[in-house]
Amino acid sequence: MKPTLAALSLAAITAASTLVTGTASAADDPIVIKFSHVVAENTPKGQMALKLQELVEERMGDRVVVEVYPNSQLFGDDKVLEAMQLGDVQLAAPALSKFGRYTKKLALFDLPFLFEDLDAVDRFQQSEAGQELLTSMEKKGLIGLGYLHSGLKQFSSNEPLRVPEDAAGMKFRIMSSEVLEAQFKAVDATPLKKPFSEVFTLLQTKAIDGQESPWSNTYTKKFFEVQPYITESNHGLLDYMVVTSAEFWNGLPDDLRAELKAAIDEAVTYGNQVARDKDLDYRQKIVDSGRTEIITLTPEERAQWLQAMKPVWEEFEDEIGAELIDAAYASNRGN
Ligand code: LMR
Repeated sequence: MKPTLAALSLAAITAASTLVTGTASAADDPIVIKFSHVVAENTPKGQMALKLQELVEERMGDRVVVEVYPNSQLFGDDKVLEAMQLGDVQLAAPALSKFGRYTKKLALFDLPFLFEDLDAVDRFQQSEAGQELLTSMEKKGLIGLGYLHSGLKQFSSNEPLRVPEDAAGMKFRIMSSEVLEAQFKAVDATPLKKPFSEVFTLLQTKAIDGQESPWSNTYTKKFFEVQPYITESNHGLLDYMVVTSAEFWNGLPDDLRAELKAAIDEAVTYGNQVARDKDLDYRQKIVDSGRTEIITLTPEERAQWLQAMKPVWEEFEDEIGAELIDAAYASNRGN
């Protein structure tokens, strides 16, 4: 039997009112921010993400909810920026080494021996040149909301590394960065770009001989358990950029965007403090484990690594920009 006209219009009215209610309640639903990252929770980035979740819940919990996905649970760094552009994730803080597909400029931070300590890194990141880099990917739909520290990197390996010649012929896992590739080639080693989530297994199965990370990642991901030597080289930086998609960010109501930015700034300050305060604790935990020998370089040995790796600066000078390199280097106290 065919439906009557009256039944049809009733169905239409019901459908329309459902739609209105649906829209109204969707507008009342809190905005969900998925924050995806690859490290453990007890790291500077893990702590920053949890602090943000807490601040947002306290201050705007009826309007915004932050869901944190650590340990590459949701996306690895090879996928997270694409996912962000597609709207599947709203916040991430990948290492500065991982933006090569979006900008060449951030490769600056991978140059070996560029910064002598985190104070120098802070001075540069807070400078005009450093702040400008936060907006260097806007045309690609990504907005940098701030820098976050992890820390200076150390080498770990199956064999003791004291001088650059010791690394020759060894395979090292690197992040997806051309500068880091060149850095290891400069000492005749073989760099392999691999996701962070695979590093432990690659080391354990001896598919690779070594890697480079700050103390926090080497400790929390247990790399030290499968690496008999760590060379305290402080040869490079692992820092992050907190990023979001321009579409998501610009689509937020103005007041909420401002409140959220304030919460992110506060969470970043907290994460940076964790990076500074805990760095030596992670190191000490590795020492206490008795599993790994920590090699301290003499100033002469360190100078040899610098000499071997510094030519990488020139190799990337055109892509990064000589002025930017000079500005970053000038942020060291000695300059
Ligand atoms: C790595 O891949 O080694 C790092 O980017 C991991 C991280 O986020 O600290």
